[in-house]
Amino acid sequence: MENALLCVNNLKKTFSGGKTQIDAVCGVSFSVSKGEIFGIVGESGSGKSTLLRLVAGMERPTSGSISFDGKDIGELSASGRRTLYRKLQMVFQSPLASFDPRMTVRRSIYEPLRNLCGVRDEKALNERASELFDMVGLDAGLLDRYAFEMSGGQCQRAAIARAIAVRPKLLLCDEVTSALDVSAQANIVALLCELSKYLDMSILFVSHDIALVSNICGRSIVMHRGVCEEYGLTKSLITEPRTDYTKQLVSYAAITL
Ligand SMILES: Nc1ncnc2c1ncn2[C@@H]1O[C@H](COP(=O)(O)OP(=O)(O)OP(=O)(O)O)[C@@H](O)[C@H]1O
Ligand SMILES: [Mg+2]
Repeated sequence: MENALLCVNNLKKTFSGGKTQIDAVCGVSFSVSKGEIFGIVGESGSGKSTLLRLVAGMERPTSGSISFDGKDIGELSASGRRTLYRKLQMVFQSPLASFDPRMTVRRSIYEPLRNLCGVRDEKALNERASELFDMVGLDAGLLDRYAFEMSGGQCQRAAIARAIAVRPKLLLCDEVTSALDVSAQANIVALLCELSKYLDMSILFVSHDIALVSNICGRSIVMHRGVCEEYGLTKSLITEPRTDYTKQLVSYAAITL
């Protein structure tokens, strides 16, 4: 695909434990353009997180390939992986669990700035952290709190601030609003859309909620038992679902087109 930042090609991941084998991802292909917000939707256990972990280089594919920014993710060396995390970052479902409870949020945000961007100067670190908090709509006064001293919504904003500290080209978001109430959910989704535009950053947005995905993702895939059931414009998936599974997801969702 022209202008593609991420190309996933016939990707498979099989977990084997003793006598059982789980085909968590079975032959999935899709591509994401620069600046695009792309959706991955499906019920629990459909393979969404496994797919994201493969894209993040946290799991090795059983077969198939992933190319990101012109490089094959499956064949990265240790330094290649470091370079990858300067361009690709993840945000998870539980913002609290993604922070080290022994560190203030400031120290957690300084880590990628120091380790991946090479910022050493204390004044520069402070300026970057305050600027990042401003970008995610948080008061810089909150930087010296621990994650558990923040609300869920504030904590997820702080997790987003840490993820965008390196100015990634791709942000992987795994159920990032699932732990939040409805209004905090809407605010986080609006923030992600704003940041995607402002930073020209692509987002791979994983959710079990097809209504939420349809609000922000122009194109999506529907996953079911590791298989990509549908791939295309999210509006078309909703208005003309081709499979019974997608029809079911649509019928459960509160969709406003
Ligand atoms: N490390 C692992 N070892 C063995 N099986 C795994 C592992 N990780 C995931 N699985 C299995 O792979 C399948 C897909 O899991 P995955 O976590 O990708 O689903 P999901 O769509 O993210 O679900 P949820 O919406 O509940 O987060 C499940 O059957 C799960 O049990
Ligand atoms: Mg998951």
